[in-house]
Amino acid sequence: MDNNNVGLLENSEVIDRVFGHIDSGTTDLGTTQWHEPVEHYTSEDRYEREIALLRQRPVVFRPSAAIPDAGSFISRTTAGTPLLVVRDNDLQVRTFINACRHRGMKVASGQGCTPTFSCPYHGWTYNLDGSVRGIPGEAAYPDLDKETAGLKELFAIERRDLVYVQQEGTPKLETLDAALNFFEPSQSLIHQSDTLDEANWKLLTETLLESYHIKSLHREIFYPLGLDNMNVVESFGQNSRVFYPFKRIEKLRPLPRDEREIEGFATLVYHLFPNVSVSVVSKHTSVTIIEPLSPSRTQMFSFYIKHAAKNGTEISHEEALQDVDFVNQSGQEEDRAAARDIQETVTTSANSHLTFGYYEKAIVSSHQQLQSELGET
Ligand code: FES
Ligand SMILES: [Fe+2]
Repeated sequence: MDNNNVGLLENSEVIDRVFGHIDSGTTDLGTTQWHEPVEHYTSEDRYEREIALLRQRPVVFRPSAAIPDAGSFISRTTAGTPLLVVRDNDLQVRTFINACRHRGMKVASGQGCTPTFSCPYHGWTYNLDGSVRGIPGEAAYPDLDKETAGLKELFAIERRDLVYVQQEGTPKLETLDAALNFFEPSQSLIHQSDTLDEANWKLLTETLLESYHIKSLHREIFYPLGLDNMNVVESFGQNSRVFYPFKRIEKLRPLPRDEREIEGFATLVYHLFPNVSVSVVSKHTSVTIIEPLSPSRTQMFSFYIKHAAKNGTEISHEEALQDVDFVNQSGQEEDRAAARDIQETVTTSANSHLTFGYYEKAIVSSHQQLQSELGET
């Protein structure tokens, strides 16, 4: 992966820093303690402003591998808008509001592959580029201009194998300057899943961004393997990268610096501000979109992409799926349960705010970014 354009450390530099921390019993630290008001996890007003932000910037909708072919489509409501994202016959990704131009029915549901869309209500049909293809009994609509009756199109762009959608405003392409190249051409989608939780989207996001909780919350799953409360935390653009080393990273110590590879020795979590994470694990990379549905309800969509062959050895489907199960399901369930529990307490008088300290640097950074984007500073 080429990270140099955004100023992230090279792997060998991160590993040096990890060994330094191990030797001195330290970890990367922030410099700011942060108090996030509990209302920010419950308030309709804050939620509406966050949703407006999600509509006004390019946000990851899917990895490109999830809509691979001409006619591949996915429909999903995002930031309050039912969207239909499709790869057209020229292999360009397009995004439409999933609303028939006759009487507003959703023209597609779920995901799949199709040559055309046919509205289930009265059968108006649309091409993959959104244009009207056919109208049954067309003569009954003498005023209709078919040229302008196509599906309403929004801005979509693919950048480094992620599909981004911006629903409103002039495309803020500058936010994509920090887009990284996570995937190699031969990587393939091996699994996808979604979850629904009664928890604010930020609580779920926060679980991904520090390892201060490894020993307490993941005592059985991660603590035996991972270094507790030891991270290298970096920022790039509005985003963060958190490097979670495993105890076995010590095996790399005797190797020459340029022979130290991180696969199998650490998990890299990229937080793509505001609501997407990419986790690079040993045999797969997962992309998770943390979709707010209300102040206290969140759906997470995860896509798991198998890594390419390493040194000529293909990673089997089964091996990669074991990797998926271990990290993203067992661990994620504990994180999700914590987020749901916190959602129940943020409505009480126990705390006026949640507190984030120096160990929670990446979370502090994401709250700072959000506050700034919402014009609250
Ligand atoms: S609403 Fe789609 S054909 Fe009538
Ligand atoms: Fe966790």
